[in-house]
Amino acid sequence: MKILAVDTSCDETSASVCEEDRVLSNVISSQIDLHSKWRGVVPIIAKRAHQERIDYVIEKSLKKAGIYVKEIDVFSVTVGPGLAIALEVGIKKIKRLALENKKPLVAVNHMEGHIYSNFIRNRNGKYYNNLKKIKFPVLCLLISGGHTEIVLMEDHGKYKLIGETLDDAVGEAFDKIARPLMLGYPGGPIIEELAKSGKPVYKLPIPMQRRNDYNFSYSGLKTACVVKIQELRKELDENFPKIVPDFCASFQKTICESLIYKIKKVLKNYPTEQILIGGGVIRNNYIRKFIKSEMKKNEIEVIIPNKKFCTDNAAMIGVCAFYKAKKKDYVKDINKVDRLPDLKIDEKINF
Ligand code: KG4
Ligand code: ZN
Repeated sequence: MKILAVDTSCDETSASVCEEDRVLSNVISSQIDLHSKWRGVVPIIAKRAHQERIDYVIEKSLKKAGIYVKEIDVFSVTVGPGLAIALEVGIKKIKRLALENKKPLVAVNHMEGHIYSNFIRNRNGKYYNNLKKIKFPVLCLLISGGHTEIVLMEDHGKYKLIGETLDDAVGEAFDKIARPLMLGYPGGPIIEELAKSGKPVYKLPIPMQRRNDYNFSYSGLKTACVVKIQELRKELDENFPKIVPDFCASFQKTICESLIYKIKKVLKNYPTEQILIGGGVIRNNYIRKFIKSEMKKNEIEVIIPNKKFCTDNAAMIGVCAFYKAKKKDYVKDINKVDRLPDLKIDEKINF
């Protein structure tokens, strides 16, 4: 089964060709250069860039895979969650291709795609992250620029939302903290790099410790950081190269502590042998190591995607589509497929 997958949910235009769960090509055209001067994603700029790039990205992914569009058996696309006007570019294109070629279409949830970034194999059938065996039910931690959630995955395609952020997502917190420090966009990778030469000397509040639920919140931490940065303003002007790395290290450590605190709390009620992580933030080496070492103490295996599949890509959408296509979970009426910007992980897609 050959699958063509497209993701235009945010600021990367991506297309991938998969042979079942094996990736033959994964082309990503990033728009970071277009959005960085605004220090965040501007939806209308994202939409126009997707429109300009989508044909080229699809053609390139087919060419790299050595496949003609006529040979594609299943077309798939992210329908949500994401930026509505960005999503619609990929959806429109894939609908047309599926109809022209008279082939089925699989509609994919972007966050489910992040889970499936752990199930991607290379051309030779080897898992990119050396996955051995998945033992359901498995707890999933999804940490991206738009979402932060803990999900219980009971089987392929079967999810229960356990907790989510009440305001900002973890990636968003990284990006927002980068602004008062004048570090550029996206903040995540820049903060990780600076933190390498810093020490976590600043005490920042670990959010949501006093609450009994499994939700997250990062807007309070963001405010505490902004206040701290203002306090440090004079020293920052004088000793920027010393203070900023220390601040980044402190922030990163606080984020890790907040994630681990919630994971441990959830594990008490939902004990699982493994935890699976997905989303752009898990590209971060410090966070990868931190979570792994904390979970080792609890004898819990941590499953993490290969770094190249953490941030948005269409390969994870294609592999997710493969698992759905195996069950013939196709869209019933292709003409009705539409964007679902607020789609939840446990919500059924009814087209
Ligand atoms: O999953 P993703 O590509 O897009 C969404 O679905 O939102 O995640 C993007 C987010 C951004 O907020 C970015 O700052 C963050 O992932 N990110 C990182 C790192 N690389 C990307 N955060 C922390 N450390 C990183 N190395
Ligand atoms: Zn994403």
